[in-house]
Amino acid sequence: MTEKKRIIPLTTIALTVFFLGSILVSRTPPSKAPSITASKNCKECHEEIYNHWKNAMHSMSIEDPIFKASYMESYLNTAGEAKFNCMRCHAPIALINNDYDLKNEITKEGVSCDFCHSVKKVNLDNKLNPFELEIGDVKRGPLSDVDSPAHKTEPSLLFTSSELCAGCHEYTNDNGATVLGTYSEWKKSPYAEEGTHCQDCHMPLIAGRIVKPEIKSSNKKQINLHAISAGHSTEQLRKALKVEITNINKEEDIIEAVVGVTNVGSGHMVPTGIPSRKLILLVELRTPNEYFSQQRIYQKIMLDESGKEIKKDGEVFQKAAQVSFDNRLRPRETRIERFAFAMPKNKKITISARIEYLYKTSVLRPTEMRVKMAEDTKSISR
Ligand code: HEC
Ligand code: HEC
Ligand code: HEC
Ligand code: HEC
Ligand code: HEC
Repeated sequence: MTEKKRIIPLTTIALTVFFLGSILVSRTPPSKAPSITASKNCKECHEEIYNHWKNAMHSMSIEDPIFKASYMESYLNTAGEAKFNCMRCHAPIALINNDYDLKNEITKEGVSCDFCHSVKKVNLDNKLNPFELEIGDVKRGPLSDVDSPAHKTEPSLLFTSSELCAGCHEYTNDNGATVLGTYSEWKKSPYAEEGTHCQDCHMPLIAGRIVKPEIKSSNKKQINLHAISAGHSTEQLRKALKVEITNINKEEDIIEAVVGVTNVGSGHMVPTGIPSRKLILLVELRTPNEYFSQQRIYQKIMLDESGKEIKKDGEVFQKAAQVSFDNRLRPRETRIERFAFAMPKNKKITISARIEYLYKTSVLRPTEMRVKMAEDTKSISR
């Protein structure tokens, strides 16, 4: 008797659990949809492209220690909510497999081969998920005259257009504050008008093999550089700016240096992206026994809702409410700056101007990165 009494409730519980479970399962239909392919798989044939990608920031968008530290901080500050925000760009495969906790190896690939090459359309009005993907046998790309035994190919104009990049390189938060404005800065620039897209500067054509020769003796002798670089590359940074001392004016007790800074090579503001990046224009006056210096800083400053300046990368995405200051250099803009010094006593004067890229991160251990971008020096005698 007691035996029986116990069995019934247990069966009921089991049935209830089963029933509820089946409701939950039926809400998300069993996925027969093809999943994203691992980049290692593409490497079997596209070895050179893979090696370039592997050594640049898109493949490191999760492993990058600066991101990791800042993500950890945002995660703790928001009781985990930040994952839905950060992962959509830093681990976009989470948008497909819902793996916002990075449990699967595939999600940790960051901005991967098959993610980009499955994008069919970018809809910037859909802020939470601008990418419309078609995952499976078809790999989309810029070329129309290719043929692969491994997958179908489809030429797509999106791959030579800045729109593909805009899905991640533009971000306006719920407060209406634009944290990342790289795409809209480009869109307003002469480069957009002239048809020079992100890829033209960041993925130039270089000599290389599209696939290993054992796979196919392709007639293509060039590939687009997939080691997309910028702030983490001194070479790319040095293409951006020119500094010139255009005039030195002398008056009785004052000497004035007129300095022109031109954004000659960047298709957007310099600096662009995350607001913690700054430029410092440093002008130095030297004589054999004297030294004077002055500087200007170019940056975008964002405030939170209480009007406090946000200094941490991890806070800016969610907390920024407005831009309080922005004197960054627009594409092709020349900024003229004047620096007045008291006339030195010694007659042999050298004036130099240089511009540096400064990136300070305050996460865990304060670190600083400084790169000299351009320089000019003039010697005069008074
Ligand atoms: C951030 C998005 C992105 C990622 C990640 C990416 N690609 Fe591409 N890929 C592009 C774009 C954009 C082009 C075309 C560039 C152009 O024509 O200006 C391209 C071009 C190609 C081409 C055509 C040949 C060429 O070089 O133009 C192949 C093949 C290719 N990618 C394979 C890969 C493989 C393999 C990986 C991973 C190792 C990869 N891509 C990762 C965006 C991406
Ligand atoms: C077994 C070899 C092989 C594998 C694996 C492979 N590809 Fe390809 N792929 C090719 C060949 C061959 C071509 C065409 C080359 C040609 O015709 O010059 C090609 C062409 C492409 C193109 C150019 C499409 C266009 O229209 O511009 C893209 C993009 C591409 N592959 C992406 C990928 C991605 C992403 C992966 C991994 C998910 C991958 N491929 C895996 C062999 C392979
Ligand atoms: C799915 C999102 C996504 C797409 C699409 C994307 N990017 Fe990125 N990109 C990122 C993320 C995230 C980073 C930062 C990685 C890091 O530093 O942690 C990044 C970094 C970069 C950098 C900086 C590299 C450095 O050295 O600092 C450049 C340049 C760049 N991307 C250009 C492009 C271009 C050009 C395209 C379009 C062809 C593109 N991206 C498409 C997410 C994306
Ligand atoms: C005319 C060439 C040119 C075009 C077009 C261009 N860029 Fe850049 N980009 C540069 C140069 C040079 C730098 C390095 C100096 C700097 O930080 O601006 C750079 C820097 C960057 C950075 C790094 C910012 C940092 O401080 O780490 C990102 C991200 C980036 N570009 C993305 C893009 C995207 C996305 C587009 C298209 C919407 C684009 N770029 C269009 C030349 C270009
Ligand atoms: C809309 C896409 C997007 C979202 C959302 C996003 N990021 Fe990023 N993040 C980027 C891109 C693109 C870069 C590349 C550099 C740039 O533009 O400054 C980047 C760069 C960074 C960097 C600098 C990495 C380095 O090595 O210089 C940090 C740190 C970072 N993001 C943290 C976060 C955190 C934390 C979150 C979530 C709160 C987040 N990001 C949300 C796109 C995004």
